[in-house]
Amino acid sequence: MPTPPPPGQPLLRVRGVNHTFGTGDAKTQVLFDNTLEVMPGELVIMSGPSGSGKTTLLTLIGGLRGLQSGEIDIWDATAGTYRKLAGLDEDGLVSVRRLIGFIFQRHNLFDSLKATQNVRMAQQLFGGGDQDIRDLLKYLGLEQRTGYKPASLSGGQRQRVAVARALVNRPKLILADEPTAALDANSGLAVVTLLQHLARDRDPADLAKLVRQPGDHDDEGGRITAEQAAMLPALAREKGATSLIVTHDARIMNRADRIVHMERGKIVSNVVVAERLFVSEGIRKCAYFAAVLPEQQQAIADDLCIGLHPDLPVQPIHLTQPGNSVQVFEPGAVVVRQGEPVSDDSKFYLIRRGKVDVFRNTDGGQKKVAVLGRQDFFGDRALATDEPRVATVVAAERTELYTVGRDVFRRYEATSRPFITRIREVYGVR
Ligand SMILES: Nc1ncnc2c1ncn2[C@@H]1O[C@H](COP(=O)(O)OP(=O)(O)OP(=O)(O)O)[C@@H](O)[C@H]1O
Ligand SMILES: [Mg+2]
Repeated sequence: MPTPPPPGQPLLRVRGVNHTFGTGDAKTQVLFDNTLEVMPGELVIMSGPSGSGKTTLLTLIGGLRGLQSGEIDIWDATAGTYRKLAGLDEDGLVSVRRLIGFIFQRHNLFDSLKATQNVRMAQQLFGGGDQDIRDLLKYLGLEQRTGYKPASLSGGQRQRVAVARALVNRPKLILADEPTAALDANSGLAVVTLLQHLARDRDPADLAKLVRQPGDHDDEGGRITAEQAAMLPALAREKGATSLIVTHDARIMNRADRIVHMERGKIVSNVVVAERLFVSEGIRKCAYFAAVLPEQQQAIADDLCIGLHPDLPVQPIHLTQPGNSVQVFEPGAVVVRQGEPVSDDSKFYLIRRGKVDVFRNTDGGQKKVAVLGRQDFFGDRALATDEPRVATVVAAERTELYTVGRDVFRRYEATSRPFITRIREVYGVR
């Protein structure tokens, strides 16, 4: 039985990875201090200009190249442990490669073997047998081409054979370099949809939207057939597959769980789509942020994101990242206290996970006035008005909070006088 990584732990961990090609005068560093964590079942898109190091990073993760510096750990579901690529010799790298499905630009099919045989070649003992190979090829629209050798297949057909070969063992990590570059929209969508279903259960309503209806015109994003849709449950019986896909294909980007962008050898942004949505929706509920321009809202939200799905608990690694915005409060911990004056350390809080109780001191003693949970916020009033906190907020359970510093509030005050007038009205201050 394959074992998933321990709860909250990534399937792939990349830390401080550098890479240099050549020696002596010809020595050039092409990767600089790359760090990335990918959770099980994520569909990760990697983008970036040509030459930014995407393929190099992917080949290092796949153990196709020796790791010179930094760490790469891949969860081995069979062994139930992480495999560390650092310091592995060629034999070690070969065994790591068995954990991975590769879909690469040069797909390396065997010229002398027919499509079916090329896939069977890669199939390991525990694979699904010939029927599974036939089904995979059929799903990929190659039913009529199973007996052809690569020389008699089009570029896109060859690429689809390579996809079948990469997936035949249902690897838990799939590395793909421009897997849809040679494919039309419909085939590209079929590949990505299969990867999505291998990752985790999907909303049938979402799938239904992709299915071609009689009389439909092909749209830009492509369609799959009802027959293909019906094959998905069997082809993707086992979930938890993680895909790391290099692509410029906007149609695929729309389906990503995480978007990683590289520039000049470095990952410069790493966005979990669901987190970005969660945070921007959350801050927009607050009158203060609702009043700033949408692109500024997005910039604020992007600054808050830590690159982790909001359903998953933060790990120590996130809290020590430079510029980390998240704070964790244990049950009973006081987040803000009524009467506390505003200082440069004062913050606005958006609840990521957990629950807080809000208390107000009145003549009759302390009274609980609210319970706030996921995606609720607090602390904005004091920052917007410069008046002391009007309530005490206590963590009711282990609570994770995104925090926005006072300097961010100040920035928007400084840029717009009408804005601050309007905001003061919202908070009832003259
Ligand atoms: N074997 C090699 N020897 C020397 N330099 C290399 C080698 N492979 C890649 N490079 C260099 O490393 C840098 C990153 O290349 P890489 O192939 O990783 O880029 P990429 O982001 O995949 O680009 P593309 O989008 O064009 O595929 C480039 O400057 C490239 O010239
Ligand atoms: Mg490349």
